[in-house]
Amino acid sequence: MAGVALRLRATWRCVHLRSIPSLKFHSSASPMMGATVEQFEQAKNRLSTLKKDPGNEAKLKIYALFKQATRGPCDTPKPGMLDFVNKVKWDAWKSLGSVSQDEARQQYCDLIGSLVEAEGGSSAQVAAKPAGSGTTYETLLVSTEDDITTIKLNRPAKKNAITTEMYNDIIAALDQAAKDDSVITVFTGAGDFYCSGNDLSNFTKIPEGGVEEMAQQGGDLLRKYVKAYIDFPKPLVAVVNGPAVGISVTLLGLFDLVYATDRASFHTPFTQLGQSAEGCSSYTFPKIMGPAKASEMLLFNKKLSAVQACELGLVTEVFPDSSFQSEVWSRLKEYAKLPPQSLSLSKQLVRSMEKDRLHAVNDAEVKRLTERWTSDECFNAVMSFFQAKAKL
Ligand code: COA
Repeated sequence: MAGVALRLRATWRCVHLRSIPSLKFHSSASPMMGATVEQFEQAKNRLSTLKKDPGNEAKLKIYALFKQATRGPCDTPKPGMLDFVNKVKWDAWKSLGSVSQDEARQQYCDLIGSLVEAEGGSSAQVAAKPAGSGTTYETLLVSTEDDITTIKLNRPAKKNAITTEMYNDIIAALDQAAKDDSVITVFTGAGDFYCSGNDLSNFTKIPEGGVEEMAQQGGDLLRKYVKAYIDFPKPLVAVVNGPAVGISVTLLGLFDLVYATDRASFHTPFTQLGQSAEGCSSYTFPKIMGPAKASEMLLFNKKLSAVQACELGLVTEVFPDSSFQSEVWSRLKEYAKLPPQSLSLSKQLVRSMEKDRLHAVNDAEVKRLTERWTSDECFNAVMSFFQAKAKL
């Protein structure tokens, strides 16, 4: 792997710079997503001004977004097993799935913006459409347009698995969205996955205080994270752009609308991992789909297709993948023109009777999970996941 890292370092700047003369763009960006051609050009120029090596994960993301922005979805054959460097780059590009060129351009600009900013420069010239306060996050894209604040998980190479840092960033982004002028808030994922749930490597970072301290800290963070959804005052919409796992599924019971591509699936493999349900799903799922179907998911790890999830009431509507983004966004833009106060107050009316109960459910689930995280069952399951990966 060290060799791969070294060679990536040597090639990451020139890979995309070489292809610049042949670029073809639309003359303007789409209204919902996508930086303008000028912003994209600025971002490319600013990339070469970075003083520090941004690290392999960021470099691969830059490479993949550049290819997606300029060529579209990955269309080259998979490199052979021993062609390590090209295989890693191919995987990164491929993981962006059907992300549009406009959207890739925006993500590229946002990423370069956050890297420049991390070095103490201004991201203003390259971040396409940052949210009101201009806050940027390393693995989250937050933007506000057409009265919609969008929080997008941006870790496609890891299927948008949520790290500890991302939990904190999402809490901050939700807090910001609750206070900004937008009318509705959308949660979605970059690449071909919506989210693969909790990043299992969170369990491998054991603090000095040992596993108990890790579990305690994890529990406190989880309680705060779920609370941010329970208390969110505006309409919250999940745009489920691909498969969803774990906490990204359980939280759906706290969303006001859930739109899914027909490529999406919904999986909560908690007992398989020696864990137990969270996100208030032990209460919302039986209420939404009845106890028998909820138990199939939460106890027996049954994975639902988008259509099944819609039939059970977890999903509002399913769209064909080919028209998913355009249909959903044009509908959301119409919804965002509704009177904001009326929308927000109506949402609060629908949810208010449940709030105290949801907080109590959250507390109970966190307590149980905190115990589970110190169990042998959980430890063995997490080790098995990483061992299986290591063997591939
Ligand atoms: N935690 C940590 N890493 C994860 C992850 C997670 N939840 N989900 C995906 N990844 C990583 C993989 O380890 C892999 O990393 P690598 O490229 O360094 O090997 C990368 O993301 C891509 O995933 P991969 O497994 O190769 O893709 P896939 O399409 O074959 O499978 C999943 C995708 C999500 C089905 C599979 O990764 C998975 O089962 N992940 C665990 C999901 C989970 O149990 N979440 C917690 C629920 S409580």
